[in-house]
Amino acid sequence: MQNITSYIQTHKNTFLNELIDILKIPSVSADSNYKDDVFKTANLIAKRLEQAGCDFVELCPTQGFPIVYGEKIIDPNLPTILVYGHYDVQPADPIELWDSDPFTPVIKTTPLHPEGAIFARGACDDKGQAYMHIKALEFMTSTNQLPCNVKFMIEGEEEVGSVNLATYVKNNKEKLANDIILISDTGMIAKDTPSITTGLRGLSYVEVEVTGPNRDLHSGLYGGAVANPINILAKMIASLHDDNNKITIPGFYDNVEALSKQERLEMAKAPFSLENYKAALDIKDVYGEKGYTTNERNAIRPTLDVNGIWGGYIGEGAKTVIASKAYAKISMRLVPNQNWENITTLFKTHFEAIAPKSVTVNVTPHHGGQGYVTPTNTIAYQAASKAYETTFGKAPIPQRGGGSIPIVSLFEQELNSKTILMGFGLDSDAIHSPNEHFGVFNFLKGIETIPYFYKYFSEMYK
Ligand code: BES
Ligand code: MN
Ligand code: MN
Repeated sequence: MQNITSYIQTHKNTFLNELIDILKIPSVSADSNYKDDVFKTANLIAKRLEQAGCDFVELCPTQGFPIVYGEKIIDPNLPTILVYGHYDVQPADPIELWDSDPFTPVIKTTPLHPEGAIFARGACDDKGQAYMHIKALEFMTSTNQLPCNVKFMIEGEEEVGSVNLATYVKNNKEKLANDIILISDTGMIAKDTPSITTGLRGLSYVEVEVTGPNRDLHSGLYGGAVANPINILAKMIASLHDDNNKITIPGFYDNVEALSKQERLEMAKAPFSLENYKAALDIKDVYGEKGYTTNERNAIRPTLDVNGIWGGYIGEGAKTVIASKAYAKISMRLVPNQNWENITTLFKTHFEAIAPKSVTVNVTPHHGGQGYVTPTNTIAYQAASKAYETTFGKAPIPQRGGGSIPIVSLFEQELNSKTILMGFGLDSDAIHSPNEHFGVFNFLKGIETIPYFYKYFSEMYK
């Protein structure tokens, strides 16, 4: 690839400043207070795609936030890469735990990032990673090195379940036709250890409401004689795992794919230090399903976690009260072959069944999605592998990821396309957490590596 490193050297400050402009707009899709900002971000992304050399760019309206679509078709006989990303971000709260304002991006050095990291909500997930693709395109078009057709689809509702994108994909199959889908919305093992994410977990997300008496009660007058919904909810949640940390919902594991000994041995080869893992999180020990390693627990095994729980009095001081209601938000991470809608039903049936008569339980499903496994015997995988080898000087390690991008399995179902996940984030980037950041090194390395994927994929495709 001619001049990619010098191109990056010349333009890196511009790239960073442009990304900072995008990070300044608080495009929080979950919070309606930011509605205008989400639209503003879509407009800015569209403008940047045009500047990067797309021949056609449009904002596709949906019932929610628009999908930014752009393309550059140079020859219908050449392969087509579809790049997917998202310009919406997670809410920034708890805001008081940020060292700087989440929407006033700053570049600071850290022990891991002596060349600097950009601190802002969305820096890594996914504005920074999506922007690498726009800059890689700009490099290829401006130096006449684009080897194939490219389509961009950057959405604004990934963090809230991609419901409108699913409809859009179903209605635009021909427009979105492609030979491979390329996504940077995951991570890699370490700064000097590139990896290709070969799997994503599925998700079922539910909210539960437990109702006891018809009003909040004096905990002295009634305490001990009526069910306390918070006590009951805590008990019900605790019962969802057994002593081995297996999930107790009947049928939950029915379709879980068991990895062979060989596959597990292969997985265990990835560099990993349990000591560093614990130190990074300030924990004395890890915790999880018996019989599995930490890396297995967070990638190839399903989980159930309470994401939030509330009810009763949480203000200053003490108030003696038995609340009428208690609530929790619960997510289940699923592995391939587990059907998320089926799991949601199993959860609902079980949770209602274990409730004592003294309360009523309401389970409301939120969103969900299927898991995904990337095949490794494809030219896309080989091309990605060779691209990393070129820019990192070593072959990437295949690694199953624990997170979810539910739309990926829908892409396969509706567009009949495979996805290649070239993530450049690190676990320490604190995505979804306070002080999210993205290493300048990672950002630039992504811009450098992507054009090689285009090159090798197009060459191997012939
Ligand atoms: N980019 C993440 C998913 C991710 C991160 C996968 C790191 C693998 C490694 C994505 O934006 C995300 O946060 N997805 C949500 C699911 C969505 C339906 C809200 C998730 O995984 O919680
Ligand atoms: Mn993301
Ligand atoms: Mn996310």
